[in-house]
Amino acid sequence: MLIELYHYLTTPCPRTHRQLGYLTGMLGLQARHRRVQNHWQQHLENCQQLILRSALACRQTNKATIIGSGLLLEVPLEQLSAQFNKVVLIDMVQPRAVRKRCLKLGNVTPLVHDITGLATALINYKKGDKLPTPQASLPGLGLSSDLIISCNLLTQLAHTPSHFLQHRHGWHEDDPQLQQWRQAIMKEHLLLLAQQEGRCCLICDASHDYRDKSGKPLAQENRLLGLSLGRVDQEWLWPIAPLGELSKQHQLIATVQGFCNWRG
Ligand SMILES: C[S@@+](CC[C@H](N)C(=O)[O-])C[C@H]1O[C@@H](n2cnc3c(N)ncnc32)[C@H](O)[C@@H]1O
Repeated sequence: MLIELYHYLTTPCPRTHRQLGYLTGMLGLQARHRRVQNHWQQHLENCQQLILRSALACRQTNKATIIGSGLLLEVPLEQLSAQFNKVVLIDMVQPRAVRKRCLKLGNVTPLVHDITGLATALINYKKGDKLPTPQASLPGLGLSSDLIISCNLLTQLAHTPSHFLQHRHGWHEDDPQLQQWRQAIMKEHLLLLAQQEGRCCLICDASHDYRDKSGKPLAQENRLLGLSLGRVDQEWLWPIAPLGELSKQHQLIATVQGFCNWRG
């Protein structure tokens, strides 16, 4: 708890990103990883291997860009830095430990950037306003990448803004307008990826399964809200919250999909 407070106070992060909950989200991810890292290990290795498989298939190796770089748990940063001339990291928050790791490598640039273009509009949003239109764009440094990695953030892109609207402005989770908007945010991200010339490695959670102690299914949530991403290269289970993490009665397991060369 104290360590999280310390990071909350000392991590450089734009005010809007803090207000929208991105810093809290990242610190939560870090704390959960500390608690359940054994359960996450296989997932982290699967992500890293899929990224390396995708990287090794690149003909040109000038630049790799990682969107949703986060804490770099799922990213084989040192290997990418050795293979590519430049590596660009994009996230709402770039923690100090990540910045330090980049400095050591010399050819990695961490950028704070909102890939949906929604943050400012959300902060200025007033009840009754039309929901802001997502405008996905890459920062200049991320353009013309030979490899672009969307690293386990597709569903997060819609989740955090929607959570903010529910808690700040009373939107209901099941409101069809909110659901449509969440889907539009994800589609906009996929469109951005599809427009890039380089190889695209896409990793995302597709569904969340709640199971009881014995593993019996209780409920399932489709995280892609019905979007279909096409032929998957690899699919695996990720015990995001093993028994005891969210509750003593149930566990949460995500199905993760990985694409080495996603083409839209
Ligand atoms: C599940 S985490 C990914 C973890 C990360 N790949 C790692 O290896 O540690 C999702 C990440 O997406 C980032 N993110 C969410 N919305 C974003 C946005 N609009 N623009 C940029 N990054 C965003 C979050 O800050 C978070 O770091």
